[in-house]
Amino acid sequence: MTKYVNAVIGDETGDASLPILEGTLGPQAVDIQSLYGRHGILAYDPGYRSTASCKSAITFVDGDAGILAYRGYPIEQLAEKSRFLEVAYLLMFGELPSAAEGTAFRDSVCQHNLLHEQVISFYRGFRRDAHPMAVMVGVVGALSAFYHDDMDIRDPQQRINAAIRLVAKMPTIAAASYTYSTGRPQRYPRNEYDYAGNFMQMLFGMPNRDFVVDPVQVRAMDRILILHADHEQNASTSTVRMAASSGANPFACIAAGIASLWGPAHGGANEEVVKMLLEIGTPENIPKAIARAKDKSDPFRLMGFGHRVYKNFDPRARVIQESAREVLAHLGLENDPLMAVALELEEIALRDEYFIERKLYPNVDFYSGILLRAMGIPTKMFTAVFAVARTAGWVSQWLELHNDSTHGIDRPRQLYVGSGLRDYPETRG
Ligand code: CMC
Repeated sequence: MTKYVNAVIGDETGDASLPILEGTLGPQAVDIQSLYGRHGILAYDPGYRSTASCKSAITFVDGDAGILAYRGYPIEQLAEKSRFLEVAYLLMFGELPSAAEGTAFRDSVCQHNLLHEQVISFYRGFRRDAHPMAVMVGVVGALSAFYHDDMDIRDPQQRINAAIRLVAKMPTIAAASYTYSTGRPQRYPRNEYDYAGNFMQMLFGMPNRDFVVDPVQVRAMDRILILHADHEQNASTSTVRMAASSGANPFACIAAGIASLWGPAHGGANEEVVKMLLEIGTPENIPKAIARAKDKSDPFRLMGFGHRVYKNFDPRARVIQESAREVLAHLGLENDPLMAVALELEEIALRDEYFIERKLYPNVDFYSGILLRAMGIPTKMFTAVFAVARTAGWVSQWLELHNDSTHGIDRPRQLYVGSGLRDYPETRG
């Protein structure tokens, strides 16, 4: 049912109403699509804090209640009961797979997880000390040059093929970015492992010995992947959608998403959290760090704190904290000094008026860095792991956009605040 809201403007007929749209869950949205056409006025919302950029049936986030659900399933239940490939299927196709669908999906992923040998040769063109995300932006974009016969975005089957290729190849691409930087031989995927286990063997395995699977760490990696798989219209996902809206090919769109994810305010935060905790070093230095975070003349922020949407708690942070404790205990690192600083920092910040007033809570990145570090993942690979996970979400959002025949090219407008029109000075002609 359509309801109407009175806007502050009216057209020549005196009609100032705009339709209100209702979703399944979450706030209603005023449909302002006709605003400019009817009233010649634009909506101003820099940073899109009050803008629903699309309709989506994939992920639901309620920032005040601390709810995150994929296709309706709460993240805590998925992290507990599901595995990453099942979650990827759920995100892409809308329902949990039957046993046969799950097997067929896994087989397709296994079939596509190798890289073309010429793609592997690209790596040698990068500097050894390149950041893995820099390499990933380049290599994923370059995949466009390999599948031009199977990436017609108007063909639903080719769209699914591209989405599966991306999910399948991303761990291989990320792991190769790491092994290249260390000078170790690049590893091929091995289909006897599950998705997370295969990723870990490509990161840490050596050709001269068998890779020993640690089920506790593989499970923790799988959970990290599940927790990061999608997060509705965040910066990188919106980037993917915007690139896709022009009809760009899927590999270029995901490369754009990787670039956006890399920023320290988004996926780069877990790397920054570990740097910050190492810099703080010991609990005695925490008050100084808190004072700096509150000082408006200092650009320092408590990394891993605050979220654009979660203003209560980040449900992912709870799960990841539990996983971090499990893995640290399993590895005999219960007294990890970084964890000690993190726990005390959290406690002090959560009692501080500044953080309470602004509703700043630990986000998923606050503990994911500690967990990844304990598992031997180097700091500069943290965001690459996030990118592997988020690819499932990006391709699902990309598929959804292309299944919506009403969606044209995204083209935001602006409130122009530059110079008025003026003549080019005669004297310079
Ligand atoms: N430390 C200190 N002050 C903060 C922090 C922080 N981490 N985060 C926000 N604030 C303050 C900010 O200075 C502002 O204060 P005031 O109202 O006095 O000017 C107020 O809180 C609101 O900040 P904002 O920047 O308008 O909030 P936002 O919703 O636009 O930003 C954020 C969200 C995540 C970018 C921000 O909280 C931040 O920079 N956090 C640290 C980086 C981080 O952990 N990012 C990971 C996000 S979760 C992973 C993901 O989903 O990508």
